[in-house]
This record gives sequence, structure tokens and C-alpha cells, in this order.
Amino acid sequence: MPLDIVVGAQWGDEGKGRVVDLLSRGADITARYNGGDNAGHTVTIGDCIYKLHLIPSGFIHPGTTGVLGNGMVINPQTLLGEMDMLRQAGVEVAADRLFIADAAALITPAHRLLDTAQEAALRGGQIGTTGRGIGPAYVDKVSRRGMRIGEMLDLASFKDRLDEHLSTIDTELRNRYQHPGLDRKEISRVLIENAATLQPYIRRVGPIVRQALMDDRVVLAEAAQGTLLDLEQGTYPFVTSSCTTAAGVFSGLGIGISPVRHVVGVTKSFQTRVGAGPFPTELTGADAVALRGTGSNPWDEYGTTTGRPRRVGWLDLPLLRYAVEINGVTELFLTKLDVLSGFTEIPICTAYRLNGREVSTMETTADARSLGMVEPIFTSLPGWKEDLRPMRDHNQFPEAARGYVEFIEKACGVPVRWISVGPERNAVVEKAGE
Ligand code: GDP
Ligand code: IMO
Ligand code: MG
Repeated sequence: MPLDIVVGAQWGDEGKGRVVDLLSRGADITARYNGGDNAGHTVTIGDCIYKLHLIPSGFIHPGTTGVLGNGMVINPQTLLGEMDMLRQAGVEVAADRLFIADAAALITPAHRLLDTAQEAALRGGQIGTTGRGIGPAYVDKVSRRGMRIGEMLDLASFKDRLDEHLSTIDTELRNRYQHPGLDRKEISRVLIENAATLQPYIRRVGPIVRQALMDDRVVLAEAAQGTLLDLEQGTYPFVTSSCTTAAGVFSGLGIGISPVRHVVGVTKSFQTRVGAGPFPTELTGADAVALRGTGSNPWDEYGTTTGRPRRVGWLDLPLLRYAVEINGVTELFLTKLDVLSGFTEIPICTAYRLNGREVSTMETTADARSLGMVEPIFTSLPGWKEDLRPMRDHNQFPEAARGYVEFIEKACGVPVRWISVGPERNAVVEKAGE
């Protein structure tokens, strides 16, 4: 019963899309289990750069079936746009290979407007959300008044439920946020049209995934966001509204825990974050520009979904160790090692100082407030000049690059099994086990 899970071990954008694309070559099912179109997962195949927000990154492989799990929040317009984009790129998008969970939550334009209005009202205290309506849609779900994708199967009652939903948010927008109000008729018309198009894809997905596992077919579960954005375990309140960790797979797809084979933690070779919240190793100045890039390369650190420049910093091992523990990571996939070429020395954070005491894990600093107060303690490792991008064998790496990877392995207690040295599909070095 082989279930592999790919999770982000940082604040998102670790390179999960490219990792899932690589690891799902042999998968039968590739499934997203949390989040919505706040995610932006990039897969680079030759000149073609796919930016996926809802459809699992493994779906590009013709032999896979794509599942959008019940733990997700789904904006039908984004989904239909993505289905069209994939079709135009030559990927087969049909109702016998793409399944949308009937129990997934629906995101409407009203949720998006509410998200933006709520953020604006926070003035200095914003979270820096993606503005995709994620928080408001999950709030509706938890409060048990939310609409589910499965409601799209009965257009007449769907319309009634939409009227009720739009009227509730319209009142809230007008009364609380001085918003001029929603064009309810138009929003409803478009959503009903979307519902009719999506109907053939809507299924109960749990039994399909469970049956695949019982038949010994490989299922790859893809997380959105990263461990530190997890609603429960992340840097609350600067988090997203879903379970981004491995734990979310089981409730987000409707399966049991026993089939887990690998839990692959994806981490960049440095640290990035979009949006607000504590970031102990954050950099400014020339080193920040070197890590972020200027936007001239497609892989530079600008948000896949919003285009915002990402905050950057040195790798934070207390946070990475925390992610390894929280997810039960069995192996790490280290991305963007190529970006570190050219630094004379590479600082890496091994512990923190908090109120005069040295702490080596995030556990003592689990909330955003105390994580915002720590002082990072760095060890400087030697850098390297060589361009790693053409290398495909770990033995070709300069000694300093191998040393950097080994330092991470030792600090986390799990092997780094893969290292990527460029965004292209094949720019990956598989590191042999000791
Ligand atoms: P995700 O949200 O975790 O899927 O990550 P994103 O796709 O949002 O951001 C990762 C960015 O880094 C994308 O632009 C990728 O193409 C790029 N990328 C991934 N791995 C590598 C790598 O090893 N080297 C370089 N230079 N870019 C990479
Ligand atoms: P992928 O899957 C990076 C961040 C937002 C904000 C916080 C809450 O590409 O790694 P939300 O819109 O979810 O309510 O915003 O979470 N965020 C991400 N940051 N990568 C993502 O997804 C993110 N999805 C949400 O920037 O700080
Ligand atoms: Mg992303």
C-alpha cells in the first residue's frame, strides 16, 4: 500500500511542484490534499513553464490520475482556467483522469473580496494573504455553513444556496467594510455555468484513493504551502488556514495512516517567506539580492501566485529540524543549491538565543511572538565558486557543496536524498545512501 507524501519544510515555495513532477513518474494517483489557489507550483519542462495552483503537479505525466482532495478549497474559475491551460499545452484533461472531491469547499468571488477587505482593515497588522479567499472559505467550512463542490451537482439547489451565501457576505461587506456590495446576479450566473462544466469531474475521492492503495498502486500526495504556514503547527497567526503538514493527508483525502512509505520534506538551500511574520535569519542588502535575484530569471524569488518579492535569508536549521519532526520526514529533497554558488562563506543558523539562553529547536518558540524575538546563532561554512547547474552526479560537486549538504543531514538526522541544481525537470542529483 505505497503512499508517498511530499511536504514543504519551510514557509512554502520550496520547490514542491518540481519535486512532485519528478517523483510522480511512477505514480498512479497524484493528489492535492489541502489549500487552494493560494498555492503556486512550478514545473519546468524544456521551454514550457507550468504554474499550477490547484491541479496536482504530477498530473502532467500521462499515466497518472489527478485528485483534488476534500481538504482543499476550490475556486472553480481558477480550476477551469488551469484545465484549459493544460489542454493547450497538450495534457489530456478528461473526467476519467481528473477527480474533484465532492466534499472539497467552494471558494467564490465573495470570499476573495472578503479576504481583501479583512486584510485592509487590519492596517499595520496584516498577514499578507494571497487575497484568494482562502481564510474566509475555511471559516465558512468550519462554521458549517460553507458550500461544498458536490452541491454543484444539483443546479437548482446550488442556485438557492449561492443566493444565501452571496447575500450573507454582501451584508458583511457593506456593513462592516463600507464596500459597495456584490454583483450577485453576475457572480451567480458565472458559478452556475462553471458548475455545469465541472459536474462530470466531481466524485467521492476517498474510496478511489483507498482502492488504489489496496491494489498496491502508488499514490503521491502533494502538500500546498509549508510546515511553518500550518494552521496548528506554524508561526500562528502568520499562517494559512489549512493543515499543510503530512498529518493533513489522511483527513484531506479520506484515507488511513497505515500506507505511508516515504515522507519527503522539501527545503530550499536557504530560507524564503512571502507575507508577514517572524523570520529569524532574514537578510537585507547585497546578500539578499544575490539570493532573491532581480526577477530576470524565471526561478528568481518572486511569488508564483502574487508576483510579490519573497523575503530571503540563510537556512534555519532549528526550523528545518522542527519540520522534520512534525511531519515524520524520512528523506529531504534540497532545492536551489545552484543559487549558493559564488558566496565565499555561507552562514547557516544552528540555534537561537532567547532571553539570554541558547535554544536549538523551534519548540520553545512555537508562537510567532517569541520566534520574532530570537537571535539566530550562525556557523559559517565554506562556499564554492563552481556553477553546479550542469552537474548530475554528487561526486562532481565541489567539496564545499558536499560539506554543506552533509552538515544539513547531520543537523536534521535524516538523509538528503536528492539535490536540485536548476529548475528543469532533469536538473537533479540523486545522492547515494551511505
Ligand atoms: P512550490 O510552491 O514549492 O512548488 O515552489 P514554487 O514553484 O512556488 O517556487 C520554486 C521556484 O524555484 C520555481 O520558480 C522553480 O522553478 C524554482 N526552482 C525549483 N528548484 C530549483 C533549483 O534547484 N534551482 C533553481 N535555480 N530554481 C529552482
Ligand atoms: P505554495 O503551495 C508561500 C502565505 C501568504 C500569507 C499566508 C496566508 O506555492 O508553497 P493565505 O492566502 O493562504 O490566507 O495567506 O500564507 N502563503 C504562501 N506562501 N507559498 C504558498 O503556497 C503560500 N500560500 C499561502 O503569503 O503569508
Ligand atoms: Mg509556490
